[in-house]
Amino acid sequence: MNSSSVFALFFLSFGLLHADVSFITEEEYASDLYHSPRGIGCFKCHGEQGEGKLIATYKDKGEKRSFSPPAIKKLDFKSFDDAMRKRQRGMPRYFLTQLEIQTLYYYLHPEENINAD
Ligand code: HEC
Repeated sequence: MNSSSVFALFFLSFGLLHADVSFITEEEYASDLYHSPRGIGCFKCHGEQGEGKLIATYKDKGEKRSFSPPAIKKLDFKSFDDAMRKRQRGMPRYFLTQLEIQTLYYYLHPEENINAD
């Protein structure tokens, strides 16, 4: 094998590998984004399917309190979208794009069409 065909083979396999990596379904992309949205994953606070989660209980001035981010799977798209654009106490701000917000909503509502708004 001469050196140019080695190169050709290298670029060919690189191209195939690359094609493989970028070929993910909408479901996989939505799940990736929910778990790693350029920041701490939503699931860590809102649970794997957006069902809400009890993170911690503590006492404040003798009163029992808890940090329990709410369930987010039952919000309609408008409420979800509005909430993502506002500061939420105890939640990082993400500055996501419209498409990313739609994708996250889709993750929580896989039964709905991702392109419907
Ligand atoms: C560090 C924990 C934490 C993370 C991570 C987090 N959230 Fe939250 N989120 C909260 C808390 C706490 C609230 C409730 C704020 C309040 O009650 O004022 C909240 C509120 C919300 C609300 C509004 C709920 C409502 O009923 O109005 C939505 C929607 C939401 N989060 C979506 C997300 C999404 C999507 C992600 C990932 C991109 C995410 N959150 C990541 C803690 C978190």
